[in-house]
Amino acid sequence: MKTLNDIDLRDKRVLLRVDFNAPVKNGEVSDDTRLSAHIPTINSILKQRPRALILISHLGRPKGAPTPEFSLKVVLPNLRKLLGKEVHFFEDCAGNDTKAGLEKLPAGSISLLENLRFHSEEKNNDENFARKLASYGDIFIQDAFAVAHRAHASTTGIPKFLPSAAGFLIQKEVKYLSELLKNPERPFVAVLGGAKVSTKISVMKSLLSKVDYLLVGGAMSYTFLKARGINTGLSLVEDDFLEKAKEIDKASVGKLLLPVDHLISKSFEAPLENTVTFEIPDGFYGVDIGPQTIGKYEEVLKNSKTIFWNGPMGIFEVREFSAGTRRIAEIIAEATKSGAVSVAGGGDSVAAIKKTGLAADFSHISTGGGASLEFVEGRLLPGIEALKQE
Ligand code: 3PG
Repeated sequence: MKTLNDIDLRDKRVLLRVDFNAPVKNGEVSDDTRLSAHIPTINSILKQRPRALILISHLGRPKGAPTPEFSLKVVLPNLRKLLGKEVHFFEDCAGNDTKAGLEKLPAGSISLLENLRFHSEEKNNDENFARKLASYGDIFIQDAFAVAHRAHASTTGIPKFLPSAAGFLIQKEVKYLSELLKNPERPFVAVLGGAKVSTKISVMKSLLSKVDYLLVGGAMSYTFLKARGINTGLSLVEDDFLEKAKEIDKASVGKLLLPVDHLISKSFEAPLENTVTFEIPDGFYGVDIGPQTIGKYEEVLKNSKTIFWNGPMGIFEVREFSAGTRRIAEIIAEATKSGAVSVAGGGDSVAAIKKTGLAADFSHISTGGGASLEFVEGRLLPGIEALKQE
């Protein structure tokens, strides 16, 4: 795979795919991590004095038409601040006059084009759309790791029409995530949480063949517990996956660890008659892992040398239900300080780590949710494969 370091960008028009799919609240970016993650790539390109830098991205999941709530305009103030430079904005990434407008800008200018997903052709991986976008540049740099698991026009399409290379963020993500797969120092422990077993079944199976222990938390654990015949009360259980859960559990004795106690509540929105139990009685929801589970997981994590974490241990958005997730973040941060390599991915667990202020103590926080899971599962990501065909 060619990288940014292998290409001469002087006086070239550089088309850069970034993932500015940042969380937006009340018309403002509420966390600019996804923007700042691209700054090293952007600054390195600018240092080479290109003729133009053109940024393309998606934001959210609009349905192939302009939708004000998904406009990338929202990131402009953050981007201008992070770069300390003017950024021109184009209201349509593929309008009739977009190319002419780009060419009128003075040499060295930076532009951001409106949301690629305002055109259905982006997700449909339309060749003409990709060719149109490619016509804006002389060189394509792909830096959007978080969307590399999608075969879209701006991931797999553009490299067919332009010399292409990977930016620094892609390189960094691939470096840390492939270390987990190649030769992880042992014990290698994965922590999986989140709501649904269904979305994590295949990554679970794949991780179980690689790790020494897989620690499960969050609502996905209730499906496994019900499959073991343990009461789960009103907790979210995917009944269609009970058989699958039973099968996985049986095949992974000693490796797959499930919560042994739970924080329960009569409401999952706020604490109501909340207490800690071993089984979840009727009328109650499991909302977090309990203290004995935390202790058990701590024993495993503190001796581990490689850790991968995806998904919260409970409903961490509610402060009273966030202790398990917070404590797991602290334990992994402590293990990292004692020499373990720790990699976390997935929007919710990363948000939880940030809330605890421990992000800097992890070896690597992936910007990818789905992309990092697919990578760890050993699947080839189309957006990265497209760069290898160069
Ligand atoms: C993400 O948020 O994981 C990426 O930006 C990809 O977004 P998508 O799941 O809507 O394709």
